[in-house]
Amino acid sequence: MNKRRRIYEGKAKILYEGPEPGTLIQHFKDDATAFNAEKHALIDGKGVLNNRISEHIFTKLEDIGVPTHFIKRLNMREQLIHEVEIIPLEVVVRNVAAGSLSKRLGLEEGTALPRSIIEFYYKNDELGDPMVTEEHITDFSWSTPQEIDEAMALALRINDFLTGLFLGVGIKLVDFKVEFGRHWDGDAMRVILADEISPDCCRLWDIDSGDKMDKDRFRRDMGGLIEAYQEVARRLGVLNETRPPPGAGPVLVSSKS
Ligand code: TMP
Repeated sequence: MNKRRRIYEGKAKILYEGPEPGTLIQHFKDDATAFNAEKHALIDGKGVLNNRISEHIFTKLEDIGVPTHFIKRLNMREQLIHEVEIIPLEVVVRNVAAGSLSKRLGLEEGTALPRSIIEFYYKNDELGDPMVTEEHITDFSWSTPQEIDEAMALALRINDFLTGLFLGVGIKLVDFKVEFGRHWDGDAMRVILADEISPDCCRLWDIDSGDKMDKDRFRRDMGGLIEAYQEVARRLGVLNETRPPPGAGPVLVSSKS
């Protein structure tokens, strides 16, 4: 029986109280949502794959000196993390036009951007995570100019590293979303990478075929999401013990569209 105290439940993850003060357990669910949860399905095995892929990426990022909340993986669906105060921003880095950028500016998907672009979205489900500028962020005290500078510098380092990591396994990193948190060590606070990095929050295209290997397969009703995530895990070398049970395929929970 699960007696752990649940601290927070999001669309794809649950946070439980951790074994030590200042730690939490991050549990990856099989839920997939899109369009602010208007569309929702359960995809058997997705949480297991995202747990492993995110563990792999966070470990590699720690190795190059990017501070993260990751401590260790506990089991197939859970990892031990440092508790942070989440900065309420989604930080998106784009290398190639796709998704909302293509829509907003009328750019053909796949158009390379002259240089990487960073965008900020205010994390607020009721408002549908609107795009905001640094002035909104500081005026409304969601974050400070110094934290924004730190988050942007980290986001660009993460982009450089992940672009190379994925290129090495034949995948183009089109764009991704990250979240940062404030972590206190005594009186000292630093901004560290939190949440997850997985095909749920990246656009990953196969270099040769252009096939989508990310959550756009769900957003756009293309099917084959688990197979695509498995292929990402396999190429990153993390699939060994994680083969998810052969599911019966996605179960649509709700769709208002
Ligand atoms: P977008 O083109 O829809 O703005 O998405 C940009 C990137 O951010 C893409 O890799 C998907 C990711 N993303 C999330 O992780 N969560 C979200 O809620 C949204 C809208 C995008």
